[in-house]
Amino acid sequence: MSTEKLPDDFLWGGAISANQSEGAWNEGGKGISTADIATAGKHGQKRVYTDGILQDVYYPNHEAIDFYHRYPEDIALFAEMGFKCFRTSIHWTRIFPQGDEMEPNEEGLAFYDRLFDECLKYGIEPVVTISHYETPLYLVEKYGSWTDRNMIDFYVRLCEVLFRRYRTKVKYWMTFNEINVITLNPVIAAGIRIEQAEHPEQLMYQAAHYQMVASARAVQLGREINPDFKIGMMMLYPLSYAETCSPEDNLENMHNMDLHYYFSDIQVRGYYSPKAIKFLERRQISLDITPQDKQDLLQGTVDYIGISYYMSLVTSANPERKIRVKGNMLDGIANPYLEKSAWDWQIDGLGLRIALNYLYDRYQLPIFVVENGLGAVDEKREGEMVQDDYRIDYLSKHIAHMIDAVVLDGVDVMGYTVWGCIDLVSASTGEMKKRYGLIYVDRDDQGKGTLNRERKKSFYWYKKVIASNGAML
Ligand code: BG6
Repeated sequence: MSTEKLPDDFLWGGAISANQSEGAWNEGGKGISTADIATAGKHGQKRVYTDGILQDVYYPNHEAIDFYHRYPEDIALFAEMGFKCFRTSIHWTRIFPQGDEMEPNEEGLAFYDRLFDECLKYGIEPVVTISHYETPLYLVEKYGSWTDRNMIDFYVRLCEVLFRRYRTKVKYWMTFNEINVITLNPVIAAGIRIEQAEHPEQLMYQAAHYQMVASARAVQLGREINPDFKIGMMMLYPLSYAETCSPEDNLENMHNMDLHYYFSDIQVRGYYSPKAIKFLERRQISLDITPQDKQDLLQGTVDYIGISYYMSLVTSANPERKIRVKGNMLDGIANPYLEKSAWDWQIDGLGLRIALNYLYDRYQLPIFVVENGLGAVDEKREGEMVQDDYRIDYLSKHIAHMIDAVVLDGVDVMGYTVWGCIDLVSASTGEMKKRYGLIYVDRDDQGKGTLNRERKKSFYWYKKVIASNGAML
């Protein structure tokens, strides 16, 4: 490992999303979003999206960790750790409760004013994802969500309101969380149900096109409103290795990665590559793409690439190879060289260095590691601090390899935000038990607990990491 340091303006911090933390699902004029109709699942058992809110069903996101009311205490704790930035998202239904209104909900806007002001009070830069895994339920029911072109206008209207309102408060934006997840989990990513669809891929890739056009229009608009904005895309980085050195396995692995570069190529370069066009033809997907769309994609390319990186996978051309391990969105063959988390995610710190190199070699755009962390069961004894050495071990290895990517390989990494810097509701399982935080929240999978916050051992460790700009891991 190198002893060189990261740039002094490196953006250290933490990340959460609105729907997994805020709670207050029906306060302040907020409408219902898809995250509000997701039940609690668990490891190996998916969450169910019910038809509206049902009586006697527990919905973990309804209260979540009550960040909506407790954010001053939480931001103070982030400041104590020395955060330079804090990534969160906007709950679309706080701003437009249905999604297709012409006028925004002032109470929702005022909440994010208070939140951003609180961050700025401590010199913490807000980093805002505009849409993170929640879609207004009304838009799902009335329009079929992102399968409808009208969604572009609704989303761009939301962006315009946000860009104007927070013009001087927020500089760093991302248009969609993990845009490449739309084809893996269309309901969580975009509110699209494909169960009844005749040609599900047609629906998903059309919806993806609308999202990417919406993103490109938002980027152009954002630049007009404030030329200093930095507006990024965000993808789940799905690092995978070929199982053997056979050319067939390597071709399969390349195809596997191509499914994801499909999205970043369009958002970074501004057009569908020849390979993407061939891919669509092969799958008999025919997209509604207008000349204006093409122009927008070209003019609305992003300023940086945000990534989530948690694990790596292995691929094989041999369909018989079925020893599967699962992440929340992807699965693959088990890697004998790696350990797994309690949720079977393969832990691969060095993979982060490889991922950063692949992306930077391809695009030469700054990269922001906006999600990385370990979901684990923490043992909490009354009056004692959580001793989460396993989390420190995971994070320190990933950070060390990220620093190598910067100082040894020359990759331009803007910042690093620990996912779930405070315990929150898991996106894939709805559990509280799957904790990522450096701060413990007293809340269980039945929705019981005081919601009190307590510093974990990793809290003090991360504080030193930030203070030393990554030198003390
Ligand atoms: C990412 C999402 O996929 O992974 C987050 O952007 C999510 O919203 C995180 O919480 C961790 O996944 P999970 O399913 O363990 O919460």
